[in-house]
Amino acid sequence: MATPVDPRTGLPVVAMVGGGQLARMTHQAAVALGQSLRVLSTGPDESAALVAADVRLGDHRDLDALLALAEGATVVTFDHEHVPTEHLCALEAAGHRVAPGPDALVHAQDKLVLRRALAAAGEPQPVWAEVASVAEVAAFGDRHGWPVVVKTPRGGYDGRGVFVVDGVDDVAGLFGRYDVLLVEQRVPMVRELSALVARSPFGQVAVWPVVETVQRDGINTEVLAPAPGLDKDTATAAQELAVRVADRVGVVGVMAVELFETADGVLVNELAMRPHNSGHWTIEGSRTSQFEQHLRAVLDYPLGATGMTAPVVVMANVLGGRAAEEGWTGPSLDERVHHLMAHWPDVKLHWYGKGQRPGRKLGHVTALGADLDEVRARAAAAARYLADGEVDPAFAFPTEH
Ligand SMILES: Nc1ncnc2c1ncn2[C@@H]1O[C@H](COP(=O)(O)OP(=O)(O)OP(=O)(O)O)[C@@H](O)[C@H]1O
Ligand SMILES: [Mg+2]
Repeated sequence: MATPVDPRTGLPVVAMVGGGQLARMTHQAAVALGQSLRVLSTGPDESAALVAADVRLGDHRDLDALLALAEGATVVTFDHEHVPTEHLCALEAAGHRVAPGPDALVHAQDKLVLRRALAAAGEPQPVWAEVASVAEVAAFGDRHGWPVVVKTPRGGYDGRGVFVVDGVDDVAGLFGRYDVLLVEQRVPMVRELSALVARSPFGQVAVWPVVETVQRDGINTEVLAPAPGLDKDTATAAQELAVRVADRVGVVGVMAVELFETADGVLVNELAMRPHNSGHWTIEGSRTSQFEQHLRAVLDYPLGATGMTAPVVVMANVLGGRAAEEGWTGPSLDERVHHLMAHWPDVKLHWYGKGQRPGRKLGHVTALGADLDEVRARAAAAARYLADGEVDPAFAFPTEH
């Protein structure tokens, strides 16, 4: 079958399942490549639905919606990982290209599948077990130490589905809802890292520098690139690990390998097979952004250069804060954007176009520079101003950057 292209442009059509901010920023990259992303969105107000020209409203669990999305598209890809495997197989059986394919994607969908695959490959990961009863969790905790981390194999995101468990009383309720769970040793970690890699069907791979990810309440809210003070050997080992895993699972597109750094090296936490929060910094901070690279990879274009554009890059997410609360009387969002630009002319804003609610991931800012402490403080202050309408005293007046 000839590769479908948009007859108006002669260029490919990438269809993305999901209309969130990842799809929105992928669309932004698609525009530069002469394309326009087609998105499957659950509603007309989702981030990507507000900006893409070809928006299909529907659910990722509805096979008919997926088949309609794929019709005439060059390739189908994802802004989240929760599409049922049997639907992906049905799309492939109908002759559509799906990237990453179902056999790869299952490693990001199901934490038990990933744990088994990493064990078979001899890759480093936390001590883990598949458990089907409270007694098995107790035996694991008694053997490896409490507390333990219990996870639902599927469906978790932003820390939902992850439970730090001090004793068996905490898990009894979970087995009512799930037949099997994953239990892991609580890793004594130094910090969390992310190794971002892209792989094309041709087998070309590209990696970005390994970054540090900082989580607040289980949500990644700050990314430091490159990971400060990470020794060269560990950084290279993490990149090589990411490439090995990418090859082994056969991913096509961008994949984030979430890592725990311990005193003895890195352990794999989980995989994400799509552009990832830990790669937002690449929009300004790398020659090729993760969004452009994802498109290049799923279309089997040669991959772009991944060098950094500054010695230090920091991304800070904006989570809905005081300014998103009911009855907020401070500066409006539009005013805050205005002030942000006045205070920090060098900081780049990415606002996702979502309704403001406390705790919701509404956007991110990126700061570049040479001094980690300064760049980090600048990004954090800008993000905090957008969230809470408060100017950090250290940044009360515009300064030279
Ligand atoms: N075995 C572990 N030991 C210590 N901390 C852990 C462990 N597993 C998970 N965590 C903590 O919980 C966070 C969320 O876990 P995980 O990434 O598995 O969940 P998720 O909800 O699927 O992911 P995401 O937040 O990336 O969508 C991790 O980033 C880490 O901070
Ligand atoms: Mg995670």
